[in-house]
Amino acid sequence: MLVSVAALGISQTVQALKGEVDNLLTGAVERSVTKDVKHILEMARRASSRREVLHTDFLTPPVLKESMQVLEKLADVKAIAQGGYPQAERCRISVGHPEELTSDPDIISALSITGNFQFEPCSHGDFLGSILGTGIVREKLGDIILKGEQGAQIMVVPELVEFLMSSLDKVRNVPVSCTKIPLISLDYEPPRITKFKTVEASLRVDAVASAGFKVSRSKLVDMISNGDVRINWNPVTSKGTTLKSGDIVSVSGKGRLKIGEINSTRKGKFAVELIRYL
Ligand SMILES: *[C@@H]1O[C@H](CO)[C@@H](O)[C@H](O)[C@H]1NC(C)=O
Repeated sequence: MLVSVAALGISQTVQALKGEVDNLLTGAVERSVTKDVKHILEMARRASSRREVLHTDFLTPPVLKESMQVLEKLADVKAIAQGGYPQAERCRISVGHPEELTSDPDIISALSITGNFQFEPCSHGDFLGSILGTGIVREKLGDIILKGEQGAQIMVVPELVEFLMSSLDKVRNVPVSCTKIPLISLDYEPPRITKFKTVEASLRVDAVASAGFKVSRSKLVDMISNGDVRINWNPVTSKGTTLKSGDIVSVSGKGRLKIGEINSTRKGKFAVELIRYL
């Protein structure tokens, strides 16, 4: 199968892991995500058995989330995800034996890209295009934080800092300069979060997400049919899909919702904690 479970050196988590892997295979997750997760699991197994610490490149949010969920279940593997700042979307995962991976590895660098953007505002796509135009691949690049007229701050693997500082001279038509900055001086907006609780008769996505986004259930069902609703970055195809703790539900134009703790009530309903990112 996917991974030789015995070789992971675990026993009590075997069933959980198998279940997780089966879920991955039954098409709940896009095929390319499954392939990447599989690769990361193999890397984790190798790192743990050889007592090394290994790192991935920057991962997309769905791969990151699926991988962390699977890695968490492995007894002899510790995994740390870092993207340079707390709510980074694209992160690198470091894996190793818990005795080897004892602190956050220093594997993310930040660059400040400055120029005169006053007359030519540049978008995320403009920065991305110019950076990739230097020849680096997307996986070596983390988040891009736009700073309006001042330019942008970007996360990158440390090996490419020198290269980018010497090769990135323009974003669209604006001449720019790049400087390395410490992660601590990154300037980002902390996410606006609200937390609340809802009591629902079921954990179906149409019920829970309509409460979470404060739209009617029929509106939410419409949004599902339009393909606007995603669970863990995968489009929802059925309004009857049920949610579990830790799931991220996103709706185009409405932001994201994380499913927190779920308790059963005495009346057989579900009390669900919802965390909304505005
Ligand atoms: C679930 O139960 C715990 C313990 O009683 C309580 O602290 C928590 O607030 C409850 N969460 C929800 C979402 O009802």
